[in-house]
Amino acid sequence: MELVKFTEQSKSELRRDALAHIIPHFANNANLAKNPKVFIRGEGCYLYDIEGKRYLDTFASLLTTICGHNRTEIASAVQKQMADLEFFPNYEDTFTVPLIELARKLARIMPGDLSVSFFVNSGSEANETALKVARQYHVERGEPHRYKVIARKLSYHATTLGGISATGLPWFREYFEPLLPGVLFAPAARKNDGLSSLREMERMIEFEGPKSISTIIMDPIPGSNTGFPLPPDGYLEGVRELCDKHGILLIFDEVQTGFGKTGKWFACEHWNVTPDIMTIGKGFTGGYIPLGATVMTTKVAERFRAPGHELRSGSTYGGHTVACAATLENLAIIERDHLVENAAQLGQYVSAELSKLRRYPIVGDATGIGLLWAVWLMADPATGRGLDSSLHVGNWIRDWCWDHGMILRNNGDILVLAPALIITREQVDEIIGLMAQAIEAAIEHFNLDGKAATRGGHTG
Ligand SMILES: Cc1ncc(COP(=O)(O)O)c(C=O)c1O
Repeated sequence: MELVKFTEQSKSELRRDALAHIIPHFANNANLAKNPKVFIRGEGCYLYDIEGKRYLDTFASLLTTICGHNRTEIASAVQKQMADLEFFPNYEDTFTVPLIELARKLARIMPGDLSVSFFVNSGSEANETALKVARQYHVERGEPHRYKVIARKLSYHATTLGGISATGLPWFREYFEPLLPGVLFAPAARKNDGLSSLREMERMIEFEGPKSISTIIMDPIPGSNTGFPLPPDGYLEGVRELCDKHGILLIFDEVQTGFGKTGKWFACEHWNVTPDIMTIGKGFTGGYIPLGATVMTTKVAERFRAPGHELRSGSTYGGHTVACAATLENLAIIERDHLVENAAQLGQYVSAELSKLRRYPIVGDATGIGLLWAVWLMADPATGRGLDSSLHVGNWIRDWCWDHGMILRNNGDILVLAPALIITREQVDEIIGLMAQAIEAAIEHFNLDGKAATRGGHTG
């Protein structure tokens, strides 16, 4: 593989202009001062930057490139579709063949009766649309007063104003309030909470008045921001029962967890609980071209079929023709190469290997499933006491890994892994080996010898 060579001058001009002319998503000047990386090529689970440096990507380009980079099958499908018809919108009564084939495919692989898709361009738009679908659904049923939304603390759903209204992480919301009225936040569910989070949600519904609630939106396994905590046994089943009892629509956000990452096609299948609406994005397209979808049951979709009752939503590019062609091929690869099964099998290996990191005095539990994992750094794993947050140990470990050719994502002192579904056992060994070296280096650098600095709060 021949990499394009850049002169020292063109490299420094690229970096200069990146900083001058682009506001990157969620960056600050301290991030940018760390020497911006400019990527030029990808191959499987590896990326190459303009310096020719190779990185092993443990987070699959923000949980998207699940079949790896440079899949010639997807490139050919895109090229063919470009030659046939690059784009025609899915507006009123117009469709394209890849769009129909993709909707048909989703109806086949999605759990239960989730079989009618509304195509959008991103995970945010999918959630934004799901909230609108729920509102209009109740209006169409003659219950326009059902406008409240129950979301959960610590969940992330979108970057749009409607979506951040239902996002339970204050950092994303703080400059934009007041947001949508009527959004309530139930507690985040945790494995050992004895279903107290479910009982609290039930009390919230009773207090608010069940007939005022339109929808409950949640990620069945919350995402990397909070370390992929699994729900307590009976929790998702209990939420489904509450929705059925009170006529509330249940939305599952599977933007992070969908398409094999948990070792099943969709995370909710681990508990056999099917929502009324599922939102998808990220790995859906394999990262090749943006696409998302809000997928609903026929019961929900039927409300939008009669004249005058059309779903009041739409966008020019939602369901872009070439994006659908790329996505169809991405899904075909997942099936053909048994990548969901690979995630399930390798997940058990990852779990066992990560637990060995507990030999280090600053490593607590590893949480996750399939190929979604989080390693919790803490001052005292026995009591769960967190590291001094002002040390930024997680950031230091992340930077060490990047310097040593591995893209690692962290959220404070939680290190997260979500590699592509094509990852091999050898690459898992390489990842966990480098993490171990990084943790050892951090222990030495910060002098964290078991009496680790503990002024910060509890991280767990
Ligand atoms: C669980 C979840 N939902 C929704 C979104 C929003 O998706 P997008 O960034 O494609 O708009 C994200 C993105 O990180 C996510 O993790």
